[in-house]
Amino acid sequence: MTFDHDPHVNGIGELLISSRSLSEYRAMFALTDNDLSLRILDCPGGGAGFTSEVSNLGGDVIACDIAYFENSAKKLAAIATSEADRGNHYVRAHAEQYEWTFFADPDEHRRVRQHAAQRFAAHIRRHPDHYVPGRLPSLPFADASFDLVLSSHLLFSYAERLDHTFHVDAITELMRVTSGEVRIFPLVEVGSSEAYPRLVELLADLRTRNIVGHTVKVDYAFQRGADHMLVCRRGLSTATS
Ligand SMILES: C[S@@+](CC[C@H](N)C(=O)[O-])C[C@H]1O[C@@H](n2cnc3c(N)ncnc32)[C@H](O)[C@@H]1O
Repeated sequence: MTFDHDPHVNGIGELLISSRSLSEYRAMFALTDNDLSLRILDCPGGGAGFTSEVSNLGGDVIACDIAYFENSAKKLAAIATSEADRGNHYVRAHAEQYEWTFFADPDEHRRVRQHAAQRFAAHIRRHPDHYVPGRLPSLPFADASFDLVLSSHLLFSYAERLDHTFHVDAITELMRVTSGEVRIFPLVEVGSSEAYPRLVELLADLRTRNIVGHTVKVDYAFQRGADHMLVCRRGLSTATS
């Protein structure tokens, strides 16, 4: 397999507003059909097709993202499409950082992500109420508004830009709005195949907030080294010392 290599594409640059599909979400988060019947929050939702696809199956999903604050649905639709190409450009230029099994090659990656972006674009225009502006670590939802919260490709992915305190506060906030679990994927930074170096410390910090996290291997292989999610639940103690 050969790939175009553009030596000018180094870091990912601006934080990407990416568009993953339901099949990627299923694999990244080991989602069962039963999981998809829960009240789900996808944060950050970005330009993912997940909310559109699950809604279409009769599910109950809200996407929340900082990008939904200032951009109209029309503008977000255009952003998602151009960002899918920017993400693909990065992946093409760094093809060696990825395993080509889930996607056969960068062309398939572009096709799938563009399709997801288009689903997002059509859905946000018809159902803007499913896309709520929000900025972690503070979300505009009441406690336990959801049963399952999914968070992909913000925490850990951008660990160089988002400090440790942000990670602890963001996970605490995601836990506040769920009655059940938070699942986070991946645990490695963009451009790296190493797990977040402060994971042990993070789990200890969360424990002081009565949040118990553990890593779970998932059946999704794309970014090398990214094959675990973090699952967080409330601890048994409800005391707020
Ligand atoms: C790489 S995208 C991931 C989108 C989607 N989960 C997916 O996997 O396709 C990261 C998203 O995080 C959003 N974001 C960045 N900082 C945020 C914050 N503090 N609160 C909520 N969303 C944020 C960005 O706008 C962007 O859409």
